[in-house]
Amino acid sequence: MAEQIRLLVVEDVPQVASHMRSLLQAQAQIKMLEVVTSGERALSAVGEFRPDVLIVDALLQGRVSGRQVAEQVRRADPMVSIIMLTVPQNPVTEDPAHGVDSVLRMPFSGFDLTTLVRRTHEQRGSEGARAGSVMVTLFSPKGGVGRTTLAYNLAVALGREHTVCLIDGSMQFSDLRGLLRVPAAVPSIVNLPTDRIRDSDVAEVVWKDPSGIDILLAPPRVEMAEMVTVRDIEKALSIIRQIYEFVIVDTRAGLTDDVLAFLDASDLILQVLAYDSMAIRSLAMAGEAFMAIGYPPTKLATVLNRSDSAGGMSKADVEEVLGQPVDFEVVSDGRLVLAANNEGVPFVLASPDEPISKGVRAIADKLAARLRDRAPAMAGP
Ligand SMILES: Nc1ncnc2c1ncn2[C@@H]1O[C@H](COP(=O)(O)OP(=O)(O)OP(=O)(O)O)[C@@H](O)[C@H]1O
Ligand SMILES: [Mg+2]
Repeated sequence: MAEQIRLLVVEDVPQVASHMRSLLQAQAQIKMLEVVTSGERALSAVGEFRPDVLIVDALLQGRVSGRQVAEQVRRADPMVSIIMLTVPQNPVTEDPAHGVDSVLRMPFSGFDLTTLVRRTHEQRGSEGARAGSVMVTLFSPKGGVGRTTLAYNLAVALGREHTVCLIDGSMQFSDLRGLLRVPAAVPSIVNLPTDRIRDSDVAEVVWKDPSGIDILLAPPRVEMAEMVTVRDIEKALSIIRQIYEFVIVDTRAGLTDDVLAFLDASDLILQVLAYDSMAIRSLAMAGEAFMAIGYPPTKLATVLNRSDSAGGMSKADVEEVLGQPVDFEVVSDGRLVLAANNEGVPFVLASPDEPISKGVRAIADKLAARLRDRAPAMAGP
């Protein structure tokens, strides 16, 4: 079933409120959370109930008018879609900048109400997605190819000029906690609310890494991974994508449901491989699965890690088995990676001039160009 839309109503005429309630009773998609009977209490109720959609009566009596409610809520919580309810004698026009996303005129039917709530909610959601970040997930069917190392350093390289959230997608073993030696008490994705998540919730839960990026960690204990559902991941991503310019995800090996949730939401899947025939073969199989799912080829890129440790294979061999070109190469530097990982520092900052750091920066530069290409669309007409 599709996620319920959470509706809060600001209405001081009891008959109108109960009319809405009865119209909504026959359906399950919209959940009417509460009726707030005065404009003064609207803002705190939005904080408390976390609605997706707010209906406000334009003709509210009292100190705070319907319009003021809409403006206040828009400023305080831009994620909430707002519908202004009015009568034909008091025309209201749509004005999203001031919190009026759409207008509901009395009298209205149950169909009018549910359709408008749904449409307004979807519209605001897709506007948010358009303005969102570039999301990149590092993927590999096999373990130990360098996803965590590359994800962290790539995120930090991007973080020098952009806002970045790195997500620890290895839900059971939290590779980034291990890499960064984060105390167990630092919150994780399980500490995000399970209803609607707001910017401030994300700010409270992410780890502010000294390298300049924010990191949403996986749970500190293996058994806690079960507490994170695909739905939780999707919810967290939809808000995180609105806050940061880049979202980089480190995943666990394999093509499980949680990994798929990250891949589905991504703009780019960065497939990490090494000169290892088993890893290459399983990546080719994953490629077939991606095709079956319907991911466009433009969603896929490959990075060959430890690209100077060929072990009898050539890059052309790899590309042949893979059926895709190798887009990026990062050389091996066991000494530097070991030292940097052991200290939990990113080598792209510690040794920016080494070839391995340059390899990671080349990926970062390409991604930054992708964000720039998207910028005009973000600004809007
Ligand atoms: N370019 C590189 N040069 C040298 N060592 C590397 C390089 N990339 C990764 N390593 C090393 O390889 C090992 C595996 O790397 P990493 O943990 O990043 O891989 P992973 O794909 O995340 O593995 P896992 O399956 O455990 O999640 C680590 O010891 C890391 O230090
Ligand atoms: Mg890892």
